[in-house]
Amino acid sequence: MKIYHDADVDLGILSGKKIAVLGYGAQGRAQALCFHDSGLDVTVGTRKNGKSWNRVKEDGLKVAEIPDAVKGADVVMMLLPDEVQPDIYKEMVKPNLKAGAALEFAHGFAITYELIVPPDNVDVIMMAPKAPGDMERLMFLEGFGVPAWCAFTRTSPVTPRK
Ligand SMILES: NC(=O)c1ccc[n+]([C@@H]2O[C@H](COP(=O)([O-])OP(=O)(O)OC[C@H]3O[C@@H](n4cnc5c(N)ncnc54)[C@H](OP(=O)(O)O)[C@@H]3O)[C@@H](O)[C@H]2O)c1
Repeated sequence: MKIYHDADVDLGILSGKKIAVLGYGAQGRAQALCFHDSGLDVTVGTRKNGKSWNRVKEDGLKVAEIPDAVKGADVVMMLLPDEVQPDIYKEMVKPNLKAGAALEFAHGFAITYELIVPPDNVDVIMMAPKAPGDMERLMFLEGFGVPAWCAFTRTSPVTPRK
């Protein structure tokens, strides 16, 4: 295990990149707001008839339907409930995911059990916080943070199905 602290990472790598945060629940809201406050270009992808849509607007962030948020995004963060991720990935993310983008998860479930098999031309990142979203946001606002398990690969960790 290697431990990374803030000083080990460069936020500048994300400067000018488009980040799509899919879902605006426990993790989506906390992470989207922290990215926004960090000066990053965030669009939240959610459904127009759902509860989150207006909440995103009230919080002052950009909102789009999931396919539109994914189009052109450099980083796509799958912050939806684990049980809905496979269908949403298949129907709305995969057809719109650009080559060279990074697909990010806050839990290893979908990738480990191959419920989502990303193409070889995207990076795959796991950043799994060891805290509920509200606590992450609170710690960020206090100038601190919470620990997270991280894993990343420059190609899909599993062989794409035909
Ligand atoms: N809960 C945590 O603090 C925590 C901690 C560590 C890791 N994780 C991981 O983070 C990921 C997200 O979990 P979460 O707890 O943040 O999820 P969550 O709060 O349950 O996510 C709710 C969001 O997902 C949207 N959503 C739900 N079903 C949908 C569907 N069928 N189509 C489109 N949007 C849908 C909701 O939209 P509407 O408002 O329209 O319903 C809402 O914006 C998971 O992989 C989880 O394992 C969570």
